[in-house]
Amino acid sequence: MRVLANDGISDAGKERLEAAGFEVLTTRVAQEQLTAFLDREKIAALLVRSATQVTPEVIDAAGHLKIIGRAGVGLDNIAVEHARKKGIPVINTPGASADSVAELVFAHLMGGVRFLHDSNRQMPLEGDQIFKQLKKQYSKGTEVKGKTMGIVGFGRIGKAVAQRALGLGMKVVFADPEVTHAQVSLEFADGQRLHFDVQGAPFREVLAMCDFLSLHVPAQDKPLIGEKELGLMKRGAAIINTSRGGVLDEPALLQALEAGHIRFAALDVFTSEPAPEVQLLMHPQLSLSPHIGAATREAQDRIGLELADQLIAWHKNGFQEA
Ligand code: MLT
Repeated sequence: MRVLANDGISDAGKERLEAAGFEVLTTRVAQEQLTAFLDREKIAALLVRSATQVTPEVIDAAGHLKIIGRAGVGLDNIAVEHARKKGIPVINTPGASADSVAELVFAHLMGGVRFLHDSNRQMPLEGDQIFKQLKKQYSKGTEVKGKTMGIVGFGRIGKAVAQRALGLGMKVVFADPEVTHAQVSLEFADGQRLHFDVQGAPFREVLAMCDFLSLHVPAQDKPLIGEKELGLMKRGAAIINTSRGGVLDEPALLQALEAGHIRFAALDVFTSEPAPEVQLLMHPQLSLSPHIGAATREAQDRIGLELADQLIAWHKNGFQEA
């Protein structure tokens, strides 16, 4: 069976598929040539990350397509309903990147509370001229220990964020319409395990309670966090979005930063990816990264292997809805 991994696949995932008899192509086919390529090359399985758009047109034109795999969590670049109506299952890897995304949340958070996002911009420019001034400018940092982490969306990634927050001595509260309370387990390198009961709360209460807010929900039709929601947050709170652009209203965020209501924010995802608004890119209170939540070697290996295993199982036994 021919597989096209159009946005790449880890070596481990490719090797596992090849060992199971799949032929894996990793040629990057441009979006406008995709439909012709899928048909001409008799591709039965199309694997994508976030770059390739698997639109209804792509699905309709690919006469040999039997299954679509998303190497990652979000399915917003795939016409899932259209595929399913045509009997083409769509598989993804919802858990494989949770630890990597959660670690990125804390990279942004720990940097933000000590102004590293800004001092890393200023030190190369003026560190040898105005060292003392910069020292003063960045001297009102805060600790995260004892502060409250609010988590919106308590799936696998939200829980991984909670684990790290608890490990740092933070309080955790979450909002999720599907979950009211949860047990979060921390596993340490020496094998010890600690279990914590974590309580959910209504969305608005979480906004009002937290010192830091981290978003872990799928793409939305309209922003979940806009002017009103930002207004409910404590003055001086911070917000981190590693979920999807558009979940957080960017103009409203800029206003809240300008007004001093939000202390800093971190964005890994943007409404206008891959060309984020320049006002965001230039803002001194924003810690920025280019959608790299799942982009670690470990996560990409897990994603590749999980996708390979699902594909092999589907080939053997047919599609089992998770
Ligand atoms: C995901 O949905 O898995 C992540 O956002 C990673 C990505 O899309 O590149």
